[in-house]
Amino acid sequence: MRGNAPIVVVGGGMAGLCTALAAAPRPVVLLSRAADGEGSASTLAQGGIAAAIGAGDSIDAHVADTLLAGAMHNDPGRVRMLAAAAAEAIEWLQEHGTEFDRDGAGLQLGREGGHHHARIVHAGGDASGARVMAALSAEARSATHIDWRSGVEADALVLRDGRVAGVRLDQDGRNEILMSSAVVLATGGVGALFARTTNPVGANGSGLALAMAAGAQLQDMEFVQFHPTALDLEEAHSLPLVTEALRGVGARLRDGNGKAIMDGLHPLGDLAPRDIVARRVWQENQTGGTVSLDARALEIHWERAFPTVLATCLGHGIDPRHMPIPVSAAAHFHMGGLPVDDLGRTSLDGLYAVGEVACNGVHGANRLASNSLLECVVFGRRLGSHLREQQSVRHDGGCLLVERGAGLHSDDLRLLRETLWQAAGPIRTAQNLQHGIDTLAPLLARGWQARLGQSLLAAALRRTTSIGAHWRDDAVINPVSRSRPNRSISHSIRH
Ligand code: SIN
Repeated sequence: MRGNAPIVVVGGGMAGLCTALAAAPRPVVLLSRAADGEGSASTLAQGGIAAAIGAGDSIDAHVADTLLAGAMHNDPGRVRMLAAAAAEAIEWLQEHGTEFDRDGAGLQLGREGGHHHARIVHAGGDASGARVMAALSAEARSATHIDWRSGVEADALVLRDGRVAGVRLDQDGRNEILMSSAVVLATGGVGALFARTTNPVGANGSGLALAMAAGAQLQDMEFVQFHPTALDLEEAHSLPLVTEALRGVGARLRDGNGKAIMDGLHPLGDLAPRDIVARRVWQENQTGGTVSLDARALEIHWERAFPTVLATCLGHGIDPRHMPIPVSAAAHFHMGGLPVDDLGRTSLDGLYAVGEVACNGVHGANRLASNSLLECVVFGRRLGSHLREQQSVRHDGGCLLVERGAGLHSDDLRLLRETLWQAAGPIRTAQNLQHGIDTLAPLLARGWQARLGQSLLAAALRRTTSIGAHWRDDAVINPVSRSRPNRSISHSIRH
């Protein structure tokens, strides 16, 4: 085959769209399960995009906050790359149709947990993800180099001459082979493998499992960030987020007796680092208590600043202006994934990863608020530009198909989610992790989600110290310590 095959981008969230747009004029086939960003975690993002563009702020300060949040487990060079490219990323998004909230002549800058400066740019208040996604989706739809195919799932990788050379598509049970000059996984995180998540159900690690089946290296699988305030809907799996920005303007977390649960626990109280707050909420829930976010006293323009939270709560019969909002901790973001270099290259030739599925070192052991959409834009654009300049690849050898394999049936999937939630939730112990591994053992042959979950549990068991979002209750460590680990001892797994 001559190498005029397209670039194949798997995933229509923000990372996939930025990569596809930046690759112009090289032909791109963009694959997504749903149309126009629906079902993508990017669309649900309520936080904004961090950029050190305010008076008194600096790239150095953004870097410092990101490293501190990440418990110094980050790759400092990549963090600097991220922070240094933020201002240009905001400009690029504006050029591509996003209208950010303004404050007089300039952009309005908000402050979120872990940031020492006001540097969060929002669009439509808490609707930032949806607004940016709408603008980028419209651009991608009208871009002549992008063939956007929705309603499809990539369920196998094609290997040729020892490199990834395409994907197999599944569309309503019909299969099709699509050869490519590069395959980019932009498939998001693994939150939906947990019983409670702020992620959409599709954020189930399908791309990660595909790469794992083909022998790609994984890294930092145990680092999962839990958000302390998802709307606590009974029996629900995918829970709406109640943005941290509400605590940023004064909302308080209270137990069932109305007592403020963060008092005396951390100098920053309700705005303590996300992992600390999530553990406190989780503990309260695990002992049978309820937690609510009390925003009743706030003097804010709900419709302008928090339209998403207001509409979601009202849709569930809760008026946050007059009632406390019931909240739960929930799996929110995966810092681990496919280790990549700064151009998004994975350990497999021809396979790239960008966004949450990738582990490029910017988030370390715990992601700083509003750095995730930024990562999608900065590293998506870098990857797209790199692929644009690549020489075509010539494939001659025979093809080998590596399938992800069957998925779990619903009962097994429920068991997997509950197992990960209990064993690998905000608070972990060796005993619970081992119990989780034993519980999943019979499921390994039945579905790829179990194999992925198992690698996460095994990684969490191996890391016996607490760091960032990975909290081992059986390790002796100060809950708020942020000691610097030796990155070389961070394990990576080969399958
Ligand atoms: C939030 O708005 O609370 C979440 C923001 C983020 O995950 O960065």
